[in-house]
Amino acid sequence: MEIKAVAGDIAHNAVDAIIIGYFEGAAGPEGPAAAVDAALGGAVRQLVAQGEIKGKLDQVIVIHTLGKLPAGKVAVVGLGKQDDLTLDRVRGATAVACRALRRAAAVNIAIVPLGAGVAGISASTSAQAIAEGALLGLYTFRKHLSKEPENGEIKSLHIVDGDANRLPELTAGAERGRIVAEACNLCRDMVNEPANYMTPAVMAEAAHSLAKTYGLEVTILEREQVREMGMGAFLGVAQGSPQPPKFIVLRYKGRGSAENDIALVGKGITFDSGGISIKPSEGMGEMKGDMSGGAAVMGALVALAQLKPKINVMAIIAATENMPSGTALKPGDVITALGGKTIEIISTDAEGRLTLADAIGYARKQGAKQVIDIATLTGACVVALGDICTGAFGNNRSLMDRVLGAAREAGELFWQMPMFEEYKEQNKSDVADIKNTGGRPAGAITAAQFLAEFAGDTPWVHLDIAGTNMTDKERTYLVKGATGVPVRTLVNLVMGLASPL
Ligand code: BES
Ligand code: MN
Ligand code: ZN
Repeated sequence: MEIKAVAGDIAHNAVDAIIIGYFEGAAGPEGPAAAVDAALGGAVRQLVAQGEIKGKLDQVIVIHTLGKLPAGKVAVVGLGKQDDLTLDRVRGATAVACRALRRAAAVNIAIVPLGAGVAGISASTSAQAIAEGALLGLYTFRKHLSKEPENGEIKSLHIVDGDANRLPELTAGAERGRIVAEACNLCRDMVNEPANYMTPAVMAEAAHSLAKTYGLEVTILEREQVREMGMGAFLGVAQGSPQPPKFIVLRYKGRGSAENDIALVGKGITFDSGGISIKPSEGMGEMKGDMSGGAAVMGALVALAQLKPKINVMAIIAATENMPSGTALKPGDVITALGGKTIEIISTDAEGRLTLADAIGYARKQGAKQVIDIATLTGACVVALGDICTGAFGNNRSLMDRVLGAAREAGELFWQMPMFEEYKEQNKSDVADIKNTGGRPAGAITAAQFLAEFAGDTPWVHLDIAGTNMTDKERTYLVKGATGVPVRTLVNLVMGLASPL
């Protein structure tokens, strides 16, 4: 879809359909919406008076213009109460309006800069939110469907403003929104892909081709190199599968020096059967999404390569399947992670933290000054926070505050979880330095405490996205399947680190 900011009067725009907003409790249409209403002979006002248009958040009423306007349809989208408007509501309202117009067979559409000038929303942030809402909300994953879609495709979206002076701002915002949303959709594509297609080797190939397209550096370590480096925890997980593991490293260089300013480590289990500690079969297919963290860091680097912040970023994905077999890791085994720490395996289903231990260890060895890891790590996090909110854990307050701030800006919900030392007790082993599960109580926290041992004194934040990586229902700009969380937060975080206030 092409997204473009244009100057002009939206009421005279010759597209298939236009989108205007309406606040709950408003006295009547304002600004460009008033011009559209006038051209329609007061149809909007009339529908408000009749109680059909309420302005309730995400309500969409499609009016047929029957020749009164060049555009055949006007979608009036509810923005809720004006005082409650947020950027995330602009994203959501844009998404639902675009989907309504796709159902109505529109191909070329136009929208006003929803919310600009209200609640501190600028023209550029409005345009960014509109671009994100449209691209994220219209996303589909149809790769393996033979049938043509029932709905057509929206091919262009024009953001129309009467004030030509705002064009540069709107254009910049729309472009940033496009970059970020397309990176999210790239992440979604990888997560939605079945595990027989998205193997570790295919993830590595994807890293290669993205590196080529976007000018990133890429290194793939094969099993032998991983062994030579001493990454016994990652190798242990990989030893049960005939699919060769791939240790994927992508580098974005935004400034001259060779310093490693930040490492983004993503969990890359392309399928998690649980291994010998096998999972119940019901719902096991969802574990194709156990590489969501890895897909998110790839998406983030692709966005950053286009936004070009002056900072060096490394993305690391230890990609492997977790499978049961005669060669698989067994409960009771002891393995040795990079750096020499020994780990007693209690459950082979706690495999993510094993691969991350080595990936975080590698990041530190590469001189990363700070580390963020993103992982579908624990069912316990889903029990605690559901599919609404990502759990955030860390060892450094200022980095944590930056991550939480970046999430707020992105409209992604995060909640900081406690990391009291007392929880570490649960991870103590009689036969090795640490064990890989701490039992059921506080399972998300003990998993994070396990990772903390490998982060050491490097400032580190762990994001448990086990609940938020996928959704089973449509939610404004999220559609069923992969969500792309937390790509937008990661991009905001790195952009913020690169240009401190
Ligand atoms: N990939 C799972 C966690 C998960 C659960 C992700 C549900 C998404 C939805 C992880 O590898 C796992 O199996 N964790 C175990 C840990 C346990 C054995 C300590 C869990 O949460 O049950
Ligand atoms: Mn598991
Ligand atoms: Zn897993």
